[in-house]
Amino acid sequence: MDNRILVTGGAGFIGSHTVVELIEAGFEPIIIDNFSNSYPFIISNLEKITGKKIKYYEVDCNDQPALEKVFEKEENINGVIHFAAFKAVGESVEQPLKYYRNNVASVITLLEVMAKYNVENLVFSSSCTVYGEPDELPVMEDSLVKLANSPYGNTKQVCEEILKDYVSSNALLKAIALRYFNPIGAHPSSLIGELPIGKPNNLIPFITQTAIGIRSELTVFGDNYETPDGSCIRDYIHVVDLAKAHVKAIIYANKQETRSFYDIFNVGTGQGNSVFEIIKAFNEASGTTLNYKIGPKRDGDVTQVYGDVSKSLKLLEWKTEKSLLDSLRDAWNWQKHLEKQNYGI
Ligand code: UFG
Repeated sequence: MDNRILVTGGAGFIGSHTVVELIEAGFEPIIIDNFSNSYPFIISNLEKITGKKIKYYEVDCNDQPALEKVFEKEENINGVIHFAAFKAVGESVEQPLKYYRNNVASVITLLEVMAKYNVENLVFSSSCTVYGEPDELPVMEDSLVKLANSPYGNTKQVCEEILKDYVSSNALLKAIALRYFNPIGAHPSSLIGELPIGKPNNLIPFITQTAIGIRSELTVFGDNYETPDGSCIRDYIHVVDLAKAHVKAIIYANKQETRSFYDIFNVGTGQGNSVFEIIKAFNEASGTTLNYKIGPKRDGDVTQVYGDVSKSLKLLEWKTEKSLLDSLRDAWNWQKHLEKQNYGI
């Protein structure tokens, strides 16, 4: 297959790790990012990790003329991995139009531009949030999609529907939606990782910021859920494993011999861990003792979700290689790296 892959949101958390894995697999990634939730220094760090010059464009995926210019200039693009999106659940409740504009309209723009330039392979970032509070565990790709409980979750559902309808119209498109579980960790080089702006919403950056002293303590959101230890259960996957799934997915899409193709894959470890288990494992991985207290439940949190990943194993020929301890150690090393390095953020 031609090896040039456009990576929108390529300076972001999952996007940057995917750029590394694409290069390791012999692809030439070209980044598009508007740096609204990421930083240009990530590009230089990607060059340090890979030893390659990386092409990038500061472009917003909603800016159709600018996007077209990239496709015009970069000939022979074989596929697109579309990460660029907003992802804060709470913010999406306060600013729904911002989320629909950025996450949904950009997919439509991208599909139109891809059609114009005959680019037929697409990998789209979806989320296990589409399963809501599942009736059965582990969730399978054909488990019921529940009513979304936030505009953010809804953007993921709507985009999946857009891809399905578009492919049903016999469009020239081979698309794969990857439903991520909870991505955590960082690159083992400690040169790229998660960079939340302000107070983190997500568990692991909150834990590492507490351990390093930026926050005084973690609040565990609820200890009276119906789970063995009372805290919520999630499927935490190392971001490098998740990144590798994108490489497999773009290869799989390209391999399909039909004109129109759409499929969905769960990308997780298949294992659930509770918040208390994460704290215990973090203490072990970091050699520190985390300060935490118990607080009330957070609105919108599901009790537990973890995925069945046998479809990805079988069809994408992908599997996770890293453990929970690897993830937490790498997240901790990344936090320590940020502390030492002055990136001006
Ligand atoms: N948690 C705490 N304290 C915190 C932060 C989180 O106890 O300060 C708990 C949450 O209650 C939850 C678990 O840690 O049980 C994980 O929470 P995250 O916010 O890290 O992740 P979520 O599972 O809520 O959300 C993630 C992604 C979303 C995606 C969702 C799908 O961040 O983008 O999974 O379930 F939509």
